[in-house]
Amino acid sequence: MTALSVSTSSAASLRADALVIGVAKGPKGLLVAPGAEAVAEAFEGKLAEVLSTLGATGAEGEAVKLPAAAGLKAALVLAVGLGEAAEEGYSLESLRRAAGVAARTLAGTKKAALALPAASAEEIEAAALGGLLGSYVFGSYKNGENGKAPVGELVVLTDRKGSKDAKAAVERATAVGEEINRARDLVNTAPNDLNPKSFAAIAQAAGKEHGLKVEVLDEKALTKGGFGGILGVGIGSQNPPRLVKVAYTHPKAKATLAFVGKGITYDSGGISLKPAGHNETMKCDMAGAAAVFAAVVAAKRLGLAVNVTGWLALAENMPSGSATRPGDVLRMYGGKTVEVLNTDAEGRLVLADAIVRAGEENPDVIVDVATLTGAMVLALGHRTFGVMANNDDLREQLHNTADAAGEASWPMPLPADLRKGMTESTIADLANMGERMGGGLVAGLFLKEFVAEGIDWAHLDIAGPAFHEGAPFGYTPKGGTGSAIRTLVRFAEETAAGGKA
Ligand code: BES
Ligand code: MN
Ligand code: ZN
Repeated sequence: MTALSVSTSSAASLRADALVIGVAKGPKGLLVAPGAEAVAEAFEGKLAEVLSTLGATGAEGEAVKLPAAAGLKAALVLAVGLGEAAEEGYSLESLRRAAGVAARTLAGTKKAALALPAASAEEIEAAALGGLLGSYVFGSYKNGENGKAPVGELVVLTDRKGSKDAKAAVERATAVGEEINRARDLVNTAPNDLNPKSFAAIAQAAGKEHGLKVEVLDEKALTKGGFGGILGVGIGSQNPPRLVKVAYTHPKAKATLAFVGKGITYDSGGISLKPAGHNETMKCDMAGAAAVFAAVVAAKRLGLAVNVTGWLALAENMPSGSATRPGDVLRMYGGKTVEVLNTDAEGRLVLADAIVRAGEENPDVIVDVATLTGAMVLALGHRTFGVMANNDDLREQLHNTADAAGEASWPMPLPADLRKGMTESTIADLANMGERMGGGLVAGLFLKEFVAEGIDWAHLDIAGPAFHEGAPFGYTPKGGTGSAIRTLVRFAEETAAGGKA
């Protein structure tokens, strides 16, 4: 794992294999960003010119290497693009992305120093987090030379001499970044290795390590408790389902949050089998549960003054002789009955049970996170998640929280007219499908039916951004991304600080 630290050494005197500087697109060509003054000096004022000659423009995503000038202790300088030059300072997200590009480019390097803009604690944290996320390499399966090592050590340089907040900023980035990388590992692990039981065991071990209370309901306990949704989805698999509760409490907490995650360790579609082309990446269908787990551990590591309970609804959706059939009726936790018209609409079934269970503990807010619908991917694409809620203020808050955390999201409605299609089951209270059009909203409306009166609830549909299939960009690798974790952590921080909860 990549080690992160902060140093007030000058970029010229720090011993490292590579020195990372920021460059931007100025009105008259390439500009060297703040933080790189000592490096520019070593190049005797010619740095921008040399970089332009090498083809650098300062565009976002760009990485240009050049041999270091005499007087620098590093052998290599890496210039990463920050995009358009900004006099009032670069956005935290552009710093995260630039640091991420640097860490990816320098994979295999032992030690790199980041001489990026780092005048404030927020900037230091952004550079550190982007660097840690960009250094991520999933290494579980590749042998020897097929794999690549992440950058060994990242040092964030700053001139904030003697300030404690610089160190705190790097510690925060370490806690959040390591938990995001943990969630990425869970998502990337092959579904023959990660099933509900092994996921629950990982949660138990990691919970223990961090002093969190973890309770696991196995298939017997789920049957006894009447969790018909989770059982109905998991019944077709050789790998039985689990419901995991992971609790973080703080003695000074004034509010309690419940985070509920969809944890389908593999979604084949069940009897309503997905066709080839739609199931190759369905190991990612537990990304919501991974995000929830990571957020609870991060809240604990940050010592936030708020109670956070995570609920992981874990099942494998498989077709078999024992699988739920389209046409079966499930009795959900809490007693509502659901006619399963399509076994591929399984996420809402496991979440419904978990939302009812979470509601029994009377949290101030429930936020569920789920790779719930292909319809949300059609609507918002692969980089933006949808935010729905039973409360307009909460929906707005979560959208703004995501924005402030550097995650793209968009508020989506829960139109009352779409509820009708779902209630037209002739034999049960609800059907697990309604109209095809607006399918992401129909799924949200289904979940809303299971939220207890008086509880504020929001739903994040991360089906688009949870898993990245294209070329890596910024700090985002191929595969699991860790989508929604920064939003959940920031939401917990806002709640702890007394923001609306
Ligand atoms: N896990 C899928 C949704 C999904 C699609 C996640 C693409 C990530 C990428 C979900 O369980 C599903 O199959 N949803 C169906 C619902 C439909 C049958 C009502 C869908 O969206 O097609
Ligand atoms: Mn499905
Ligand atoms: Zn699914």
